[in-house]
Amino acid sequence: MSTTNKPFQSSIDETLDVNAILQGKRMRRNRRFDWSRRLIKENTLSTNDLIWPIFLIEGDNCREQVSSMPGVERLSVDLAVEAARKAVELGIPVLALFPNTPSELRSENGAEALNPQNLTCKALRAIKQANLPIGLMTDVALDPYTTHGHDGLMAGEEIINDATVAQLCRQAIIQAEAGADIIAPSDMMDGRIGAIRQALDAAGFENIQIMAYSAKYASAFYGPFRDAVGTSGTLIGDKRTYQMDPANTNEALAEAELDLQEGADMIMVKPGLPYLDIIQRLKQQFQAPTFAYQVSGEYAMICAASQNGWLDHDKAMLESLLAFKRAGADGILTYFAPAVAKLLQNNK
Ligand code: PBG
Repeated sequence: MSTTNKPFQSSIDETLDVNAILQGKRMRRNRRFDWSRRLIKENTLSTNDLIWPIFLIEGDNCREQVSSMPGVERLSVDLAVEAARKAVELGIPVLALFPNTPSELRSENGAEALNPQNLTCKALRAIKQANLPIGLMTDVALDPYTTHGHDGLMAGEEIINDATVAQLCRQAIIQAEAGADIIAPSDMMDGRIGAIRQALDAAGFENIQIMAYSAKYASAFYGPFRDAVGTSGTLIGDKRTYQMDPANTNEALAEAELDLQEGADMIMVKPGLPYLDIIQRLKQQFQAPTFAYQVSGEYAMICAASQNGWLDHDKAMLESLLAFKRAGADGILTYFAPAVAKLLQNNK
């Protein structure tokens, strides 16, 4: 190995005039110093961009590690209140709640979704009681409550749309009654945003926001989430008759347009990194508040590679989240929320 920095010499050097090629325009000038890189930075990630999804279990002072999601735990309601306090301390604006329903409470028609004493509602009330300056978002879909693991009601092999929508409206209302601030339907039934908006308004909840999972793809990246909520073992078949085909883009625009017409306050794309093109197109087309869900599989990939020493955890985490901002997302649902908020706090 050469010990000098002397460039490799050849006859090219005599004729090479890079400055003439560039006509004086050198892109590297702005990148020379840290202060200059900071000055020209186009996008920044802030704690205000984060929504933290947490998983709930029954019990008192109970926490269970989700094995496919290092650092993510299922929490009993009392510990969910502690998580909400931590989120407030870190400056995270919104918590998203996902229940792991005890298996004896799951049924063919997911009736537990309508129980005002279900895990999600109990957590909503407990966190609300703590009077914390944080928004609470809830998942509207039947999969954590059904024995077949589907988001809707089944008739034979089919996931039936309209009867499911009626049940989702009731689910949204009991969540609003328990204290939900943002209702987030993740079920991908047709017409559910309009129906839920109407039902909420009729029940006096006209100020409750709706974040629509507008472009939710039938993705392989939800695997660890299904472990976390306990549906991976029970899901019959797949979700391709209601979630979107990963091959499609225009269809995502049609979905988002319908959701906005039906009254969605915010739209979302899910999964995140493999679908940055969709985020960018939706933002450009509608200029609505647009969110990305960095899903469980994306989280697991970064964690697993970091644990093997193949990636720098913090750098990969920050870069992946900044990518959403660059694509035009206003915010990100991410299991990294507390870790990244801590990092941003320390870097101030
Ligand atoms: C289901 C739901 C899923 C996720 C959020 N809500 C999984 C699915 O559609 O099977 C996935 C979230 C993640 O993977 O992090 N209503």
